[in-house]
This record gives sequence, structure tokens and C-alpha cells, in this order.
Amino acid sequence: MADRLFLNGGKRLQGEVRASGAKNAALPIINAALLGDGESQLEDIPHLRDVIHLQQILEHMGVRVSYDQGVMTINPQQAHFAEPPYELVRKLRASYYLLGVLLARNGEARIALPGGCAIGNRPIDLHLKGFKALGAEIHLDHGVVEVRAPRPLNGARIYLDYPSVGATINIMLAACGARGQTIIENAAREPEIIDLANMLTVMGARIKGVGTDIVKVEGIERLGATQHRIIPDRIESGSYMIAAAATRGDVYVRNSLCEHLKSLLAKLKEMGARIEEDIEGVRVTVPNCLRGVDVKTLPHPGFPTDLQPQMMALLTQAGEGTSLVIETVFENRFMHVDELKRMGADIKMDGRGALVKPSRLSGARVWATDLRAGVALIIAGLSAEGETQINDFHHVERGYEKLEEKFKGLGADLHLE
Ligand code: UD1
Repeated sequence: MADRLFLNGGKRLQGEVRASGAKNAALPIINAALLGDGESQLEDIPHLRDVIHLQQILEHMGVRVSYDQGVMTINPQQAHFAEPPYELVRKLRASYYLLGVLLARNGEARIALPGGCAIGNRPIDLHLKGFKALGAEIHLDHGVVEVRAPRPLNGARIYLDYPSVGATINIMLAACGARGQTIIENAAREPEIIDLANMLTVMGARIKGVGTDIVKVEGIERLGATQHRIIPDRIESGSYMIAAAATRGDVYVRNSLCEHLKSLLAKLKEMGARIEEDIEGVRVTVPNCLRGVDVKTLPHPGFPTDLQPQMMALLTQAGEGTSLVIETVFENRFMHVDELKRMGADIKMDGRGALVKPSRLSGARVWATDLRAGVALIIAGLSAEGETQINDFHHVERGYEKLEEKFKGLGADLHLE
């Protein structure tokens, strides 16, 4: 397995790239197809490690899954839903969505606590609090979560202490199988949650308020199968836009929804990049010198934490001005800082803040500590003089489809080994 990316910096990115379907929408939506009583067809599912692992988990549970050219069909009718092996579950954080789905469907589930990127503690207490409010009993034993409930579950009013994406989704999934209404207060508002709700609604679910902080779900006995196209990956398209700005390039990112990227586009404009939006995508060019800006990550519609590392790499390339980056979503999401420093970045950290000064980067051996940190290193490497070697590249392949091909298409000089 190729696990190192080599790249030569100093090339302007130019041309067009298409963003794939959103990983973070695809994962809950694939799980949600298990609630249907027939074969669902999902389009624009990105070919990613996380998706392949989820497919393997479903197949282990007897679900019939086929995947070809971005189209996944899922038929849960013959499934036995046996507990998936830990070896598979640990590879994929989003396997916890099976808890909500199986609770709604079968009234019980047993899943090992999930893996995923090592960006902080990442507890699932809010998910479990929601399940409990719906009437489930919860047992945690040696890293395995067991949820069990009388069927159907009972709708409830649940206040989330934090607008967690995963908890909002998991509770919505479980609530589809509950009797009566569930109200999620302080719900997350990410576009991927809206995509999931759109799909569930076509399957017959009654969901109101997604995209606001109060989501209402009216449980229903049976959901049907459906056909659904996944929304574009805003984090992937944002990463290409940032890479374009960092190399002072000229890139059109097709299949981008500007409404999902408002905070990033505002920051790029503030830095001095030119942004041209049309119905299909966004073009990013850099007419003048870039300025440093301050960035604070927040739940949607604030600046996404999943673009913070990439943005930090870009901020090292501002021609003038110091930038302050504040991370509020995950407590340990500055692991890329040490790697950027190996390349010559001038960054000072203090708790959840990092002060970034414009710096000349030079190629170095660095390590991708997690998915988005890895892409930040690509962006830094593209802006640097000389060769960069990014080790542990498997993290990046969890979330970026055809990354090597797409960057090469824009003129980047890189290859996997
Ligand atoms: C999802 C995304 C991830 C993104 C994150 C924030 C997927 C598969 N992953 O992750 O790419 O970075 O949203 O936009 O969609 N928390 C708790 N208790 C809980 C749940 C969360 O304390 O029960 C905390 C987390 O530790 C974190 C914060 O809430 O500090 C945000 O987490 P959450 O929104 O749940 O992120 P994920 O769903 O894990």
C-alpha cells in the first residue's frame, strides 16, 4: 500500500477540478438506507476508505450492497444484523451511526466504540444521552456499547449541550423509529444533516426544522427505499480552493455549493483572493498580495474545523500581516503545527490559539497525523521550495477521492509511493 506522498513545490495550480460527493453526508446516508424496506440507490458516493469499510461492515451484517462508478445500492431485506467485528468498526468513526439505525429498526445494537481521526477525545456521551431519553438502556463494557429499548422507542425532548453533528444525526436516525415526536434542541446545522433529512423524508420520514437549531422528528412505522444523490463535499472543494490561493493559482472547483462555503469564501476574500461564483462552482484567483486574517472555528455556519489545518497552511503564505487561528470545536486539532514548523512555518501556539506569521516554507519530511492535517501538509508542500515527503498518507485517503489524480490535473508535481 502506497503510504508516502512526494511532492515538488513551487508550481501554480491551474485548471478545473470536480469535488466528489460529501464523505460526511455519504456515511450517515448509507447507514440510513438500512431503515428502508427495499433496495435504495445512492449516487455520487465517493470511493474512499471510510466508504469501503462501511460497505464491509454492512455486508458482514447480511446487507446486500453493490458499488460501481459512484452508485451504491443497498438492500437490507435479508440482513441478520450480527455484531460487526471490532477490526472493521475501529477503522471507521461513523460506524456509531449503526447504533441509531439499529435502535430504530431492531430495538437493540452492540457496537465497539469507534475509531477515526485522533483529534481530541471525541466522546459519544451526547449520542447516548439522546438514546436514553428515547427510552433505551445503555451498557458500556470493555469498549463495547450496547443499547437496548422497548419497541417502539418513545419520542422525547432532548437538549444537546453542544451542537454535535454526530449526536444530531444519530438521534434523528433513532427517532425515526420512535412513537410520537422527538425534539432535538441545540441541534447541529451542518449541510450534511440537511442532506440526510432530505433523503429520510423521501423514504417517508417526517422531519422538520433541519438547518435550524430545533429539529423535530415524528416517528413512523415503516420507511420505504429511495434514490438519492449526495451533496458535494464542501471540505474537499474548500481544500482545493485554499490550495489554489496558496499557490497563487487559478482554479475552478466544479460541483461546489457556495451556500455551504460562505465562511471560507468570506475569509478568502478578506485575504485578497478573487472569488467568482456560478451555479456549478467557484473560481479562485489571487490578483494581489494576500493578507493575514483571523480565523475561529465554530459549528456551521461558522468556519469549519475540517478546514482549519488547510487554512493555517495558507496563512503562512500571506504576504503581510499576522493571523490568529482559534480552534473551538476539537481540543487537540493543532497536530499539524509541529509538521508545518518542520517546513519553516513561523507559528506560536497557546492553548486553543495559534499565531501564524508569513513564512518561506521549504520541503521537508513530515507526517500526516490525521485526515485534514495531511491535506494541510500538501498545501504547504505545494507552496514550499523543494521536495516534501508526507508519511502516513493513509489518513488522507480516508477522505479525499482520487487526490493524486486531481492535484496532478491542476499541474501539481506529486506522486504516491
Ligand atoms: C463530524 C465530522 C467531522 C467534523 C465534525 C465537526 C463526520 C463523519 N465527521 O464529526 O469531520 O470535524 O463533525 O464539524 O461527519 N462531543 C461531545 N460529546 C458527544 C459528541 C461530540 O463532547 O457525544 C464534542 C466533540 O468531542 C467535539 C465536538 O463535540 O469537541 C464536536 O463534535 P461533533 O460535532 O460530534 O463531531 P463528529 O460528529 O464526531
